[in-house]
Amino acid sequence: MGEVAKLILEGKTYELPVVVGSEGEKAIDISALRAKTGYITLDPGFANTGSCQSAITFMDGEKGILRHRGIPVQELAAKSSFVETAFLLINGRLPRREELKRFSQLLNEHSLVHEDLHSFYRLFPRESHPMLILASMVTALRAFYPRLVGLSQSEEINITVTRLLSKLRTMAAMSYKLSLGHRVIYPRPDLSYCANFLNMMFDNPVRPYQLDDELVKALDVFWILHADHEQNCSTAAVRVVGSARVNLYAAVSAGIAALWGPLHGGANQQVIEMLEQIQAGGGEVRPFIARAKDKNDEFRLMGFGHRVYRTYDPRAQIMQDMCHRVLDKLQRQDPLLDIAKRLEEEALKDSYFQDHNLYPNVDFYSGILLRALGIPNNMFTVMFAIGRLPGWIAQWKESAQDPEWRISRPRQVYVGQTETRYVPMEARDGKEGEAAEPQQRPSEPYSAVLPRP
Ligand code: CMC
Repeated sequence: MGEVAKLILEGKTYELPVVVGSEGEKAIDISALRAKTGYITLDPGFANTGSCQSAITFMDGEKGILRHRGIPVQELAAKSSFVETAFLLINGRLPRREELKRFSQLLNEHSLVHEDLHSFYRLFPRESHPMLILASMVTALRAFYPRLVGLSQSEEINITVTRLLSKLRTMAAMSYKLSLGHRVIYPRPDLSYCANFLNMMFDNPVRPYQLDDELVKALDVFWILHADHEQNCSTAAVRVVGSARVNLYAAVSAGIAALWGPLHGGANQQVIEMLEQIQAGGGEVRPFIARAKDKNDEFRLMGFGHRVYRTYDPRAQIMQDMCHRVLDKLQRQDPLLDIAKRLEEEALKDSYFQDHNLYPNVDFYSGILLRALGIPNNMFTVMFAIGRLPGWIAQWKESAQDPEWRISRPRQVYVGQTETRYVPMEARDGKEGEAAEPQQRPSEPYSAVLPRP
């Protein structure tokens, strides 16, 4: 028998098995806890709870390590492409040459979206946030691409996966074009996944878009850096919603909704807005640091801090390097990059940030890179969503194929009103000025209050 944890409750000792991961991570298996002891665990925000065993992504927050299927993210950013990384995440291994070619062909074949979807886009109010539109449209895809009949389950999954990967990118560019009132640019079969996206975003009949290999590579790296991050909020949402055996489109839509939050993917837009605010105030960063430290102020330094990383997010370093490369290539300067670097320098010198282990995360520099590529602020989180899609898919697939699969259904510790009686309306209407709060009464058996036959 392997290692066990001992738990003493009400004088009785229980043994709980210890599960050890391939990187030595240890977990106490409490799956039989309630059945054996009558107790449950309580862990707000799930900071100490493993919801699954997963072979997709490994993170070590203390050492700043991030690996997908064992490969360090730095190596993928330098040597791989987003499409290849997507294959790696979803299929568990790097593709052979022919497989990658076939995967790219399929992404190309599925890149168009049903023409009727265009009219849906036009019906959203102009000021609608693109994340709101994306979440709705991804759910709507199910209506346009219903269940495929006559295929095996794995063939059906493969086609759905390819459709989503390809169409989400097309839909994102389309929503941008339609928001401008411009003609939609269709995907081209001769362009790569990333080049196609930039072309669909920025080509226009009177000013053809000049593709630049370095900018295409920068987008490739941006998406690789977002491809997966184990059980983060949006991925957990995809798994939880998917556990009810809903279709992949609906599960991914839940992920998009979660990602939109300012504490999660929405932070990339918030970072740029914060840097713009600093710039508008003359570029002084210290007042913002002081506000972030003030417990009476809700303000937080956006793009700083992480649930898992207690050190520099490895993705943030690569992102900062990419910002420099792209700005150099464009022979441009972005004053927001200088402000961001000063802000980082000041924050990292500050004892509050040191004591709380707060370092830049992936969102801190990503907006500066996206700005350099010409992406508007309100599309930043959509860019994150396209990047995270392979991760969501891989995690959904892993959970769907997990022999230990169960519907996600956490428990709770109830702290509300104990059994009380229904108070008829006449009795609730207090005298003038009296609160019409329902009165608490000693509890009675249900039969006493149920309508009598
Ligand atoms: N600025 C100031 N204080 C912070 C910050 C911040 N950015 N982040 C955490 N803290 C403080 C927090 O006030 C708390 O202090 P204390 O213990 O004294 O009360 C302590 O650090 C722990 O914070 P927490 O909120 O309990 O930590 P968490 O693990 O629940 O939250 C987080 C992680 C990422 C939501 C948080 O760090 C945050 O709000 N950061 C800003 C938003 C952001 O950049 N989000 C992107 C995250 S990375 C990419 C992604 O997931 O999408």
